[in-house]
Amino acid sequence: MRGAWVMRYVENMNSQTAGDYEAWSDLVRVRVPAKVNVALCVGRRGDDGYHPLHTVFQALSLYDQVEVTPADEGAIDVDITGEDAEEIPRDGTDLATRAARLVRERYGRPDQGAHIRVTKSIPVAAGLAGGSADAAATLLACSVLWDLDTDPGALQALAGELGADVPFALLGGTALGTGRGTELLPLLTRGRYHWVLAFARRGLSTPSVYQRFDDTAGEGRDGLPPGLLEALASGDVPGVGARLCNDLQGPALELYGELAQTLRYGQGLDGVVGAVVSGSGPTCAFLLDEARAAKAVADEVARLPEVRGTLVAVGPVPGAQLLG
Ligand code: C5P
Repeated sequence: MRGAWVMRYVENMNSQTAGDYEAWSDLVRVRVPAKVNVALCVGRRGDDGYHPLHTVFQALSLYDQVEVTPADEGAIDVDITGEDAEEIPRDGTDLATRAARLVRERYGRPDQGAHIRVTKSIPVAAGLAGGSADAAATLLACSVLWDLDTDPGALQALAGELGADVPFALLGGTALGTGRGTELLPLLTRGRYHWVLAFARRGLSTPSVYQRFDDTAGEGRDGLPPGLLEALASGDVPGVGARLCNDLQGPALELYGELAQTLRYGQGLDGVVGAVVSGSGPTCAFLLDEARAAKAVADEVARLPEVRGTLVAVGPVPGAQLLG
């Protein structure tokens, strides 16, 4: 009986219809997007070890998929395939397994089990919140599989315990994030934002980028760039492009100097209105004011030595979604 969970979900989100879920099976599938930080303003590290943020997230059309099926006797296991899958630990500490355990511990019973299958397209350690996306999708998928007494607010709270980017992966769209990045306010935006993502040959660890930030800058901008929210609200894509910013970009470039060439080169290409390192990097994100130029930019940037691949994505897209 998973109908109760879905009805609550539908009432809260008002984004899907119950009719989508008439045909129940023991398989629950969730699709979840990557994110880019349109702006990432970082304050001084607090006593809790985290930095207070003012950030604008946007969810992009680059998705991981999580499928769950029931398992006996409370077993929780995970099978991860796709992009960079081999880099994810198989000792039960991956974010999908942690998410399943957390939601069961708070809302379920120990005998409830799940086989989790994660199919990754979002690269690992790329600044695109791929691990957070998998955690968010697993929270949602297991809630439905086990018909738990959760709702979107409860899942948001659990998401914040799992990581700073997990709540946004549930919410999607474009949102202002404050605190650790877990306090979210959906933002009004107009227009479609076309992005070219340039994936780097190696990853960057988020804690090490924040550590470099502490050792060098220590404190970044104290608020969002003036005019950014207005540019988003009015669909002024070049205006958004001119205001892309990231206080972690400097530290990321210090740890991975070749990214500077990627940024510089991409920024000079026709149709590109802004360039920024996404999150703690090393993915470089180029914003375009029209779709037409995107393929040519992606092809050009892909030729750079430190780029292992490029992808065209659009935002904003919804957060974690149940698939029929
Ligand atoms: O929350 P999450 O596990 O994604 O964060 C990874 C690391 O990033 C944290 O351990 C912390 O070092 C750093 N971080 C931070 N301030 C934030 C978010 C993340 O210092 N607001």
